[in-house]
Amino acid sequence: MAAMMASITSELLFFLPFILLALLTFYTTTVAKCHGWRRTKKKRPNLPPGAPGWPLVGETFGYLRPHPATSVGTFMEQHVARYGKIYRSSLFGERTVVSADAGLNRYILQNEGRLFECSYPSSIGGILGKWSMLVLVGDKHREMRAISLNFLSSVRLRAVLLPEVERHTLLVLSSWPPSSSSSSSSSLGGAFSAQHEAKKFTFNLMAKNIMSMDPGEEETERLRREYITFMKGVVSAPLNFPGTAYWKALKSRAAILGVIETKMEERVQKMSRENSSEEEDDLLGWALKQSNLSKEQILDLLLSLLFAGHETSSMALALAIFFLEECPKAAQELREEHLKIARRQRSRGDSKLSWEDYKEMVFTQCVINETLRLGNVVRFLHRKVIRDVHYNGYDIPRGWKILPVLAAVHLDAALYDDPNSFNPWRWKSNAPCAAQTGSFMPYGGGPRLCAGSELAKLEIAIFLHHLVLNFRWELAEPDQAFVYPFVDFPKGLPIRVQRITQEGE
Ligand code: HEM
Repeated sequence: MAAMMASITSELLFFLPFILLALLTFYTTTVAKCHGWRRTKKKRPNLPPGAPGWPLVGETFGYLRPHPATSVGTFMEQHVARYGKIYRSSLFGERTVVSADAGLNRYILQNEGRLFECSYPSSIGGILGKWSMLVLVGDKHREMRAISLNFLSSVRLRAVLLPEVERHTLLVLSSWPPSSSSSSSSSLGGAFSAQHEAKKFTFNLMAKNIMSMDPGEEETERLRREYITFMKGVVSAPLNFPGTAYWKALKSRAAILGVIETKMEERVQKMSRENSSEEEDDLLGWALKQSNLSKEQILDLLLSLLFAGHETSSMALALAIFFLEECPKAAQELREEHLKIARRQRSRGDSKLSWEDYKEMVFTQCVINETLRLGNVVRFLHRKVIRDVHYNGYDIPRGWKILPVLAAVHLDAALYDDPNSFNPWRWKSNAPCAAQTGSFMPYGGGPRLCAGSELAKLEIAIFLHHLVLNFRWELAEPDQAFVYPFVDFPKGLPIRVQRITQEGE
């Protein structure tokens, strides 16, 4: 409850600047847009139904009210029941259309750059940097995206990232159960935070692959500590004065960039000394050798990939651990799939997983899909309407914000039977169709489709492989993922584990 109250307070603070902004723009912008529409169309736009809510703040607080991650929350439920899946509101100080409609969500993402444009709150740009991929649009975005896609290509995934993911998985699992001193819930006797362990795993993996930083080293640990402060600022009010989370995060941003910059200078010196074939095969090397990016651009690119690649997949992994604990039948079927893979691997005399082993993890992919559908790591996306749009009889004016709410589609009872229950078996036949209709878009879509989706699936699958083969686990005390609007386990998902043999005994 305390965490929830703290979160509500920080959300209230977060919106102060938006409120001020809204004061200036609320009437002028709206009236101007509607007049603009009238001038060109000579009739009033047929806006989606909805209400602007309170003056200035609109319905922002209701929209962001914390709720369990496996539900859409009361605000969404009530609005969809009253207005339908497409409604208008006033959020974040702007006139907004909210979409819980699979077709419109897909339409928005497919028409990026033509009718809609990525538009995150300015605080995100302030902290991730103006060259961050989440902020960039147009050619600059395409350039940065191309570098990220090269770095995350299927060739690198097979040859470099698969063995790296397995190595980092084993490194984390070999320390389980952690000593009570490293446990975040030591009073619970051997319990530790699964969310914390998942974060450690994805952070170390990204730090290694972005800048060849090794886990456990002083420099990596310092970066991780700074990164935790930095993350608190990403999700807090953008109030830049001493003592605030945002202010501390900007300081951490500077410290993190300092570490990256040092790495960059060392690398440039090394490259000028040595044969380039001996260079580390990481993103920093790619960006230096294969692009014309400036130093500032490389720094923001590395930082935003560290952010994008770390937070999301660690939360997805924590959610999978949570859902599997609640569903022993799924955990057992998963264990059987991985026992078969492990036996085949042993009969080959291999000690490491191969790409073919990974491709055999069919039920595992059902578990991952279901985890993302039900847990909704990324709940909604921020977009702006850049041309007047007519969709299903509604007019959506240029200049408005539009929020495709992926979670509302994933939890829609018209699309998924019993949508609030964890049922990985539903994916045995459903997956391709759901992706095409827009009813399953955990990684977004269109030209901004998540660049790391294949890596995320690989990370979760390989971690689950070693987890189910070597451990059984249970919650040490009740916990549940909440939306703040970022997804988080308030208690860090405390678990207790028991080692098992490869035959599952
Ligand atoms: C389960 C894990 C993940 C989920 C659910 C997820 C989800 C998403 C979503 C929904 C977007 C689209 C944002 C938008 O359109 O506004 C996105 C973008 C992105 N993601 Fe992921 N992501 C995950 C893991 C990763 C990983 C592991 C990486 C990289 C190592 C990564 C890198 C990126 C990048 C670079 C973008 C920006 C793409 C662009 O703008 O072109 N993501 N992700």
